[in-house]
Amino acid sequence: MESSLWYEMLNDTLCYANLWVFACIIAVVFLWQTSFRFAAHLRRLTTFTDKRQYYHRVPNQRLAWVKRHLLYAPLVRNRHNREWQLSRAVNMGTLPSRFHTLLLTTIVVMNIVLCTNTVPYGSKESTVAELIRNRTGYMATVNLFPLFVMSGRNNPLIRLLHVPFDTWNLLHRWLGRIVVLEGLAHIIAWGVPKVQTYGWSTALGTLKKPFMFNGLMCLVAMVIIFLQSPSPIRHAFYETFLHVHIVLACVAVAFLWHHVYRYSCRYYLYAAVGFWALQWLARFLILIYRNYGFGRRTAAYLEALPGDAVRVTLQLARPWTFSPGQYCYLYIPKIGWITSHPFSVAWGETGQTLLGSYDEKMAEVEAGAETSPPGLASAKVTSISLLIRRRTGFTDKLFKEAYAHGRLQLPLDHLGRSSASTLGSSMSEFPSAALKVNALVEGPYGNLHTLDSYGTVLLFAGGVGITHCMPFIRHLVQGHSDGTVAARRVTLVWIIQSPEHLDWIRPWMTTVLSMEGRRDVLRIQLFVTRPRNPREIKSPSATVQMFPGRPDVDTLIKMEVEHQVGAMGVLVCGNGGLSDDVRRACRKRQGGNELDYIEESFTW
Ligand SMILES: Cc1cc2nc3c(=O)[nH]c(=O)nc-3n(C[C@H](O)[C@H](O)[C@H](O)COP(=O)(O)OP(=O)(O)OC[C@H]3O[C@@H](n4cnc5c(N)ncnc54)[C@H](O)[C@@H]3O)c2cc1C
Ligand SMILES: *[C@@H]1O[C@H](CO)[C@@H](O)[C@H](O)[C@H]1NC(C)=O
Repeated sequence: MESSLWYEMLNDTLCYANLWVFACIIAVVFLWQTSFRFAAHLRRLTTFTDKRQYYHRVPNQRLAWVKRHLLYAPLVRNRHNREWQLSRAVNMGTLPSRFHTLLLTTIVVMNIVLCTNTVPYGSKESTVAELIRNRTGYMATVNLFPLFVMSGRNNPLIRLLHVPFDTWNLLHRWLGRIVVLEGLAHIIAWGVPKVQTYGWSTALGTLKKPFMFNGLMCLVAMVIIFLQSPSPIRHAFYETFLHVHIVLACVAVAFLWHHVYRYSCRYYLYAAVGFWALQWLARFLILIYRNYGFGRRTAAYLEALPGDAVRVTLQLARPWTFSPGQYCYLYIPKIGWITSHPFSVAWGETGQTLLGSYDEKMAEVEAGAETSPPGLASAKVTSISLLIRRRTGFTDKLFKEAYAHGRLQLPLDHLGRSSASTLGSSMSEFPSAALKVNALVEGPYGNLHTLDSYGTVLLFAGGVGITHCMPFIRHLVQGHSDGTVAARRVTLVWIIQSPEHLDWIRPWMTTVLSMEGRRDVLRIQLFVTRPRNPREIKSPSATVQMFPGRPDVDTLIKMEVEHQVGAMGVLVCGNGGLSDDVRRACRKRQGGNELDYIEESFTW
């Protein structure tokens, strides 16, 4: 009796140990990220006096080694983001990187150790089973706390550690699998001795007792979650997956609540649920705050563009602090009901020129905002624009609605595009064909890295990935002319399928290209992979060039390294294949010049 009390206390201690390991990992990542950012900040400051930035080109060899072999390394050879596919329809997901694998292995090993240590293996089988049963039950419950923390888009650790949501999502998935396995071990360690001593019918009979029944139902819900979560299913029916997942999680929690209410591990469940509730509350408050202000509501203007894209301009109910790298969740009740989808904020505009009459309060805010020119980080904007590529769900409906409306309003030219988009409508006026709908926007999220400290910036965008790069370009060109960033060379490499995709960003690009001092710093290389005829490929100027086919990423980076000023930052946002190519080239160059690789993937 005494020893079982001791074991229960031990279970509590091991639960603490579990959370302490997480806390230590968080502390280490925090220190690492903070020192990294601090170093970048110092670098940025010194470049204001040291224009040639020779010093910053020289890498720290040890750090370069770590980046090459751990941080930027895919698990095996070069593959990381390109999806593993059985066939075109079945997507097996991506492989975690080496560093992520290390992290996941740590968590798995920790859980195995915590579930099996101090078990007296020499003693009676039933005692061993009972211990393992109790231990795995405790561990599954305590793990729910980090599991739920990692699940949310408002997880405060994202900001604190500058670790993006997709990484948390990866950890969430693996920790979830661990919890389900612990749950299964729990019921097996309960069931085997029961069946051995009393036989099947009695053992199954015990399951009718409320305590057992609740535990069983919780596990059933968890196993269904486990079965519906593999990448092919998740990606094929993302919205359905998400909602079923949330409902099942609620069911599991409700049954577990009644299963553990007598045990000390219940507090971890309460903490998990409390944290979850807070995240939902935060989401709700952000939605209200962002979309209902000064008696106004957020409105969205949808314009269908050639090449299966929609430009969404959101007239915000409240000014928004715009900075590069942001994304937001878009809700359009008319089209997507209560579902929300993440999109990068491609452009922000202070509102003087926008349509619709602003009431006085808005005008005041704008007057305040005028002091900070658009393009500068942390400028308040009153409208933001998204560019959305048509896929098969919400985005498909969005495109169809916008297209049908545009068609009604305006005659189409021979390519089937409405004149609104070909006229290169400036941001200051919406073409009359834009469809106005009510929308809700939730954000800003993202915005976790800055490129301000790099003397050389190389941006790779594949297709609609340009949305993530656009604000950086504008910010760096503006910063260069104001003398607030380190950038001396900014190169955009944009890969598109056909020249009509240029229309997606034409008005914004026109603005950027006419910015002061742009020619000194920004060069653009467009690669058109499927030109209809060679005459379409013409380079407008020396700083804006167009090529047919795919870029040779390695050569491009090599050329940039040869002319490198200061440290170099390489940002890539595109499909998995492009990211993997850029990643490989960047790893290869580690140790030569200082070079950082940053990736945004648009999927989780
Ligand atoms: C941070 C981030 C920024 C993004 N920025 C842009 C952008 O600027 N422009 C753009 O065109 N696309 C962007 N995307 C991708 C965009 O979110 C998806 O293409 C869109 O949600 C697909 O909706 P759908 O219903 O048409 O998807 P479907 O055709 O049903 O599915 C296509 C894929 O989209 C993903 N997806 C679907 N719904 C969601 C959801 N609610 N949340 C997360 N992923 C989902 C799934 O992985 C799915 O495999 C971004 C994604 C992320 C994560
Ligand atoms: C396992 O948990 C049960 C139920 O609380 C308890 O009675 C038993 O003493 C525990 N056994 C051990 C070895 O911890």
